[in-house]
Amino acid sequence: MSVSTLTPVLSAQWDATRSWTLATYEAGGGYAGLRHAFTQEPAAVLATVKDSGLRGRGGAGFPTGLKWSFLPAPDGGPRYLVVNADESEPGTCKDVPLMMATPQYLIEGSIITSYAIGCHHAFIYVRGEVLHVYRRLLRAVEEAYAAGYLGKNIMGTGYDLDITVHAGAGAYICGEETALLDSLEGLRGQPRLKPPFPAVEGLYARPTVVNNVESIASVPAIVMGGSDWFRTMGTEKSAGFGLFSLSGHVVRPGQYEAPLGITLRELLDLAGGIREGHELKFWTPGGSSTPLFTAEHLDVPLDYESVGAAGSMLGTRALQIFDETTCVVRAVTRWMEFYAHESCGKCTPCREGTYWLKAVLRRIEAGQGSMEDLDVLLDTCDNILGRAFCALGDGATSPVTSALKHFRAEFEQHITAGACPLDPAASALFG
Ligand code: NAI
Repeated sequence: MSVSTLTPVLSAQWDATRSWTLATYEAGGGYAGLRHAFTQEPAAVLATVKDSGLRGRGGAGFPTGLKWSFLPAPDGGPRYLVVNADESEPGTCKDVPLMMATPQYLIEGSIITSYAIGCHHAFIYVRGEVLHVYRRLLRAVEEAYAAGYLGKNIMGTGYDLDITVHAGAGAYICGEETALLDSLEGLRGQPRLKPPFPAVEGLYARPTVVNNVESIASVPAIVMGGSDWFRTMGTEKSAGFGLFSLSGHVVRPGQYEAPLGITLRELLDLAGGIREGHELKFWTPGGSSTPLFTAEHLDVPLDYESVGAAGSMLGTRALQIFDETTCVVRAVTRWMEFYAHESCGKCTPCREGTYWLKAVLRRIEAGQGSMEDLDVLLDTCDNILGRAFCALGDGATSPVTSALKHFRAEFEQHITAGACPLDPAASALFG
């Protein structure tokens, strides 16, 4: 596998001098997609995105163009685009570098999307902790206004669009699209009941498209290159390119932009492999909310269908990689501390379930657990899965059930030996 495997589109300009400025973006061909979009009717732009097979890059993989087409027919009232830039899934670090390196990609994508769906006010909701991203987006939006890409009568087309950049306050739950909408409206961020989906009743109860940063940033290239070009990459049902984030015990961690369907083995070749002298123990295909994989899954194509068939989910393509020095009980306990802390508390299965999972895992990790605790863990997961109000609860059960499936003996060792069999310092990932 060589670097020719990579398909740099979104990341093509990341190393350019002052890549985040409008001048660099335009010099690299930026805003040609918007010009091209304006030569077409909005419905034709929507059709191109629908035909491309682009699936939501936020994790769930819902077809993007299909989502846009769910908006009801115009009734004279406003309709909105809300970009979900609240990237928070543990291990996920693709939207933040994208917005830091080339924020104009997201802005151009937002303008094309808004044009396609008939929206005149778009919002970018940024995770509260990443103040540097917020500042960069504000500046990029200012530049786009000054250049006439935003505001009234954009490029003389008669089309008007405003973009508002809004920073959240640092809650994982606000990445859930309906909690995000509540937060944007000034309410406490908690998920709403679906249906109605935001496409029908979203921001201020108006039709709203909520899409992830990477999905929207992919739109200019799709509009320029066409749906057939996009489909030359990836697989039939998981078309195109995507950013894969490799972190943990890997020689060259970072973002690798490649066609969907690439394998971890191929990505590790590009990333220099597992750190020297060590071997792969377990990894997450799409953040900690997706069931763990092991070395036996190295050749699973990283597309939605194949990862699903192998027992996990593609999710956000956050590949967190752990070698044999990592205690899986410790890793799962740390993740559960995160979920218990971030559970919004609205529904009982998630609020109480993550609390108890954390308590039992901490007991086992400290060598004070019992064999019955393993059943308690599985039983608690059973009572969360499919019963929580949103995906947070389901996601929290993934590391637990998959770790017990693949590494039950390691949990039992903690119980019988009364301590962790590994040296925590050797892993250096979960202090
Ligand atoms: P979902 O499958 O419920 O929805 C996905 C999208 O499709 C949503 O925008 C939803 O409104 C839309 N949709 C689905 N059915 C629809 C219908 N019948 N009509 C109109 N629209 C419809 O998934 P959800 O709960 O939005 O997201 C879960 C995913 O989020 C997980 O797979 C996980 O990977 C990911 N995630 C990502 C994080 C990040 O930081 N990027 C953080 C946590 C989770």
